[in-house]
Amino acid sequence: MIQLKNVSVTYQALHETLTILQDITLTVASGEWLSIVGPSGSGKTTLLKLIAGALQPVSGTVTINERSITDLAHTDRQAFIRTQVASVYQQFRLLPQFNVLENVMLPLVPYESRKTIRPRATELIDQVGLSHRMTHYPHQLSGGEQQRVSFARALLTEPAILLCDEPTGNLDQANRDNILDLLSQLHAQGQTIVLATHDDVVARRGDRTISIDNGTIHKGELGHASL
Ligand SMILES: Nc1ncnc2c1ncn2[C@@H]1O[C@H](COP(=O)(O)OP(=O)(O)OP(=O)(O)O)[C@@H](O)[C@H]1O
Ligand SMILES: [Mg+2]
Repeated sequence: MIQLKNVSVTYQALHETLTILQDITLTVASGEWLSIVGPSGSGKTTLLKLIAGALQPVSGTVTINERSITDLAHTDRQAFIRTQVASVYQQFRLLPQFNVLENVMLPLVPYESRKTIRPRATELIDQVGLSHRMTHYPHQLSGGEQQRVSFARALLTEPAILLCDEPTGNLDQANRDNILDLLSQLHAQGQTIVLATHDDVVARRGDRTISIDNGTIHKGELGHASL
């Protein structure tokens, strides 16, 4: 479960303090798929970064599975988050010098032997339909294929929470549908998903949609939302 209580985020610009999120309170249940929509610059990525422990709020608390990550020291927070949360980024963030298998194995390489990680990585690559591209490098893959690799990589650690930032933003409709099917399949297996998108079709696949604007959450805009 994810709980944000009275969370505010500001950024320090040259001559002013920008308030991006203001006094946000939000709960995401285990197994729920929450979609986040809102205009560009409204704070969707900022909200995901908070849940990923990559950003500290100026006030309020972020709790992941009963543990307040806001109160943890930086290294403890990173260690805890690593076991709970994984992210899929809009720009994939694959490492160009590694092939598909190596990219997917990377999150666990510092912690476990390659021999242990390889079968699970191979299985995930198969699950996203890329067994035939195992030794390809990122530049040899299409955008849709790279996105699928980034999903496989995120799932390697079996995260309780999967964060997706515009996971279909760069994809054509066929690839978008593939990713949506994968997400629906994960969701059916009980995966908690928090997903930011500009695409209503993608948002509607979730259980609930919230809209962020002017630093606060608005509900119900897509007809299937409730807070
Ligand atoms: N490091 C930073 N320093 C200052 N301002 C920032 C910083 N990061 C983000 N912002 C500002 O915070 C606001 C929210 O950014 P965020 O990336 O969360 O928006 P978003 O809703 O994800 O937008 P998009 O739909 O374009 O991805 C933006 O106005 C952005 O300019
Ligand atoms: Mg964003």
